Amino acid sequence: MLASDARLMAEAGIETVRLGEFAWNVLEPEEGRFDFDLFDDAIATLGAHGIDTIFCTPTATPPRWLTRRHPEILRVDEHGLVQRHGSRQHVDLTHPEFRSHSRRITRALAEHFRDNPLIIGWQTDNELNTHFSETHSEAAQHAFRWWLETRYGDIEALNQAWGTVFWNRQYRSFDEVETPVQDLPASADPSHVLDYHRFLADATRDFQRDQVDILRAVNPGWFVFHNIGRHNDVDLRDFGADVDFMGVDLYPLLRDEITRVGLGYTQAMQLDVFRGWCGNFIVPELQQGGGAHPRLATSAPEPGELKRFTWSSVARGADGIIWFRWTTARFGAEAYWMGVLDHDRVPRRRFQELKETVAELRARRGHILGTSVDMDVAILAADWTNEMAQNAMSLGLPSLAELSLPLHHHCYTRNIRCGFAAPGDDLSQAKVAFVPHLAVWEDRWTASLRRFVEGGGILVVGARSGTRDGNNHVLRSTAPGPLTDLCGVSVVEFGRLPAPGASGIISGGVFQVESTRQGSLAESSRRAHAIDLGGEETIQAAHGYEILEAAEGVEVIGRWASRWLEGRPAITRRRLGAGEVVYVGTYLTHALVAQLFDPLFVRAGVTPILDAPRGVEVTTRSGPAGTLTFLQNCLAEPVEVNTPDGLVRLPAYGCTILDFASMRDGERAPEADPSLHVRLHAGGE
Ligand code: GAL
Repeated sequence: MLASDARLMAEAGIETVRLGEFAWNVLEPEEGRFDFDLFDDAIATLGAHGIDTIFCTPTATPPRWLTRRHPEILRVDEHGLVQRHGSRQHVDLTHPEFRSHSRRITRALAEHFRDNPLIIGWQTDNELNTHFSETHSEAAQHAFRWWLETRYGDIEALNQAWGTVFWNRQYRSFDEVETPVQDLPASADPSHVLDYHRFLADATRDFQRDQVDILRAVNPGWFVFHNIGRHNDVDLRDFGADVDFMGVDLYPLLRDEITRVGLGYTQAMQLDVFRGWCGNFIVPELQQGGGAHPRLATSAPEPGELKRFTWSSVARGADGIIWFRWTTARFGAEAYWMGVLDHDRVPRRRFQELKETVAELRARRGHILGTSVDMDVAILAADWTNEMAQNAMSLGLPSLAELSLPLHHHCYTRNIRCGFAAPGDDLSQAKVAFVPHLAVWEDRWTASLRRFVEGGGILVVGARSGTRDGNNHVLRSTAPGPLTDLCGVSVVEFGRLPAPGASGIISGGVFQVESTRQGSLAESSRRAHAIDLGGEETIQAAHGYEILEAAEGVEVIGRWASRWLEGRPAITRRRLGAGEVVYVGTYLTHALVAQLFDPLFVRAGVTPILDAPRGVEVTTRSGPAGTLTFLQNCLAEPVEVNTPDGLVRLPAYGCTILDFASMRDGERAPEADPSLHVRLHAGGE
């Protein structure tokens, strides 16, 4: 099959394949006996057709001989259950024995391929922590204690940092400490949990670092990256600093079944969030067929969607695309995860669409590479300590990125340039920045945000910002603590808003959503309180309230408008230099975003890139040579878009880059087959 695969890939214009990520047993059938023949042959055959190889370290699936000889390397879950051999990611990244085998197989592979010019770079492992990240094995206990001892030096410092006097948890030595388990039997300590997740992130980074160091030492000419799947206990700023660039795996049809926020939006949101952590990236796995595991199946991409998934990725920061996967397996848990070729290996519509997509990418990459995605509105959620602190003490709220989604979605539907960043990043490109409830505040951020505002930026600070320290302890100072001066406000009371008819305990998501494929979001009705922003109608607030006290010269621009909160200040505005700081004593809802941010956008000069119909994504990437405007139609029907260059017609799922006339109208939706007598309604839109 290899020769025909290589021929077909070359025909499709494929330049690079990714190989070997689960092949440890093939490569090393017995400890110390290596066999590279299968891959040498494959790499050479592909190379003869002009195709390069990225090799992957196969550590996500250690061989059975290893887990039999060393059962102690198996991961232990939060119930104390030892994982069994037979799936993947079943071993413990913190185990020294496993780490030494990981280094051994990496070194053997690196040395074998050192002088093979067809190997151009490496992927470390595969989607680290995608299935789970916690481990509670004996090895993990030792590693955690050692990590704590390095951090605190002395057990009394740990007792202070975790407030162990609460619930009688004081430790006399590091040997007494164990990994925390949430809700077994009751709530774990948020400081203990925060440190545990810091430890897991460091362990994941160190596990990868072993491999990166070996690969770089053997051949400094190779690039190295990792393909992240889920953002589970990986501090991407730190972890990503060890590699040349990050990879982000994208399965829009799978993710949409989880998030149910619409296919276009689910992909845009994932890409924008990841870009905030790691800048431009590649997509090492992009869904191109229907996906299935034994107990789930996603819908299949329709004609044109493979191309649309690809261009949406590029439009939001991808500099390289690899589709998952080439041929469909006939066995194993992913036997129905469709490849470019079907089970019978006949190239059909997915092959044709791949071929056309690759041709488009190759024709345009010279203009695209070297550019980056523009951002007028910056959501400052890319801070790992805060993300983890929020997880450890969420009070039933979702993640910081999710709490920001009403703003992100508002910008998405209006084609306003919006992205994610860290609060310490250079914000000179942004006009509006939102601080999404960052409880753990670093002092150095205050000065740079003050400069941003004084220079004309509009800063919006969300409730509960600046209220906890790096141990996840609540600050003694009045909220927003270190932000009080910059915002010109004090919080005199705060609390949770109950759902209508509920007692106040809410868990779960921000949105109640429509499961259309167009990406529309409807708001939940879980609001018991309203805010008056001076408009005709009051706005329902979400999750929590704060009662504010404005400093002198600071304007109150929103007041609570119902029940006992009536009339109390909820939103303030301070003018500072050429800009302003708005403090919002609650969480964002779609209605609040529209009322509050639209006028701010006008004042800050934030405008939509284009006024396009709903369902059409517009983003821009800029570089030294200028700006490219990307248009993607996420709808299954043709649309027309008015652009400065005139009317652009996009077919179903059609994509174009303005300035590249040849791409326009390139894709036509297939005409209905007149001979079809039975018409089945497939649901959805
Ligand atoms: C990814 C993974 C691949 C494959 C794919 C489809 O998460 O990296 O190996 O499993 O999902 O399920």
